[in-house]
Amino acid sequence: MPRQWNWAVTVGVLPLICGSIISASDFAAHANEVAQDSAAKPTEAPAGFDTPTLAQKAGSKSSSNGIAEPAGDSFALDQQIYETVHDVSTGLGPVYNARSCAECHQNPVSGGASQFTELRIGHRDISGNFVNPTIPINDGAASIGGRSIVNDRAVVPEAQEHIPASEDVRTLRATLNTLGDGFVEAIDDNTLRAIAARQPLLSGGRIQGEAIEVPVLEAPGQTRIGRFGWKDQQSTVLSFAGDAYLNEMGVTNRLRPKDVTSVGKSTHDPEDVPDSLGLADIDHFAQFIRGTKVPPRDEKLAATSVAKAGERLFASIGCGTCHVSSITTARPGTIINGGMYTVPVALGNKIIHPYSDFLLHDVDTGDGIVQAGPQDTADKLRTAALWGLRMRPRYMHDLKSLTLQNAIDRHGGEAEHVTHRFRELSREEKQQLFSFLESL
Ligand code: HEC
Ligand code: HEC
Repeated sequence: MPRQWNWAVTVGVLPLICGSIISASDFAAHANEVAQDSAAKPTEAPAGFDTPTLAQKAGSKSSSNGIAEPAGDSFALDQQIYETVHDVSTGLGPVYNARSCAECHQNPVSGGASQFTELRIGHRDISGNFVNPTIPINDGAASIGGRSIVNDRAVVPEAQEHIPASEDVRTLRATLNTLGDGFVEAIDDNTLRAIAARQPLLSGGRIQGEAIEVPVLEAPGQTRIGRFGWKDQQSTVLSFAGDAYLNEMGVTNRLRPKDVTSVGKSTHDPEDVPDSLGLADIDHFAQFIRGTKVPPRDEKLAATSVAKAGERLFASIGCGTCHVSSITTARPGTIINGGMYTVPVALGNKIIHPYSDFLLHDVDTGDGIVQAGPQDTADKLRTAALWGLRMRPRYMHDLKSLTLQNAIDRHGGEAEHVTHRFRELSREEKQQLFSFLESL
């Protein structure tokens, strides 16, 4: 079958320059403009798995992306605090999933992803709207409500959560990579809007990513386009850190000041208080994540003609419409996060290759859960970022795909026509595409 769509789609996925998506002719004009003003030329974000997990002298062999540290702080100290294992005396629980950020975010170095999944549940009301569960604990003497996450562990048996039979929307969600997320935070909202606006044009109206505005926890009353989490439930690294410290570890902090239950609780809120530098743990977590480099390619495999052919196929059959190959971050000095953060020199005007649009799509794998977005996001998920893919042996939000072939085969809905093109590739072409994916 002739592949007329090849050229049209390839043009559409040209890199995004300076925060906007541009056409082929704009590209040449823009390239000239940029050449005249070399100070403004975006540069590649530094890449590397450079935050090894060490039992002794945590962080001592790490190097950051060059981000400036607050007075008295160091990247090694930030990493140490990210790796610190908690117990009840330092605020762990009453309900929790694991004892340190690095317990889940670790492969192959601190800040990466892992096979840890977590549980989310709920049910639908008579109008079909998603409703958070109410989970009885302590033999029914108390309950936990107002959230879809269920913690797998508790510090006392009375606080252990179980899934009530009535909560029949249930899903497992995989741990996400956080390496390079400072660059993702530094993407301007308008860049994400422009990517969404372009998708129907690139796909004959079949693909339309959804951008949702979510509250910035550190700037009450302010919102920003969500980009973190499988549901785009957070828009800033600090917001996510505050949320994760409570939801994953049960450590209360200035952004999430109350534990979800007092059953089994022995400490005072908030458990995370500022240190002698004036920084709380959540500030160190955010500083660590913002200081990490982006996941590096397997340069040797990426340079092969097979992987290069696969990269062209990835673009030409339309994978890149959602898995966007290149995005440029906002300029240094841009004020983001509801006025609470200024894009630093290390993160601004940088080209990244996340292979994601950070938008929500329905590809028929939806988990039924509504978090920060409207009800129509129940069956949507954020396009999985494919950078660092070679560190993941299981795929998709539920980790149920054990091969790349299966992960691609599961893409229906908005991606149906693209999956169809994939199925029409020859065996050799499919192998090229897999080689490219394995180089990420
Ligand atoms: C029990 C495992 C676990 C622990 C412990 C954990 N996380 Fe996570 N993390 C996850 C999972 C699972 C997700 C995806 C959650 C979702 O979207 O539902 C995630 C997502 C994230 C993200 C979003 C990444 C992205 O690009 O979208 C950030 C940031 C993050 N975690 C930071 C932290 C920090 C900081 C800590 C320590 C306070 C922490 N996490 C502790 C499992 C964990
Ligand atoms: C309409 C947007 C869209 C298109 C087109 C698309 N994807 Fe995806 N992709 C997604 C979403 C959303 C997910 C997450 C789905 C989930 O976890 O249930 C995903 C997940 C993946 C994953 C799993 C990554 C991981 O870390 O688990 C791979 C691999 C992948 N896509 C490859 C491809 C390839 C190859 C193509 C082209 C044949 C493609 N995708 C086309 C949206 C898209």
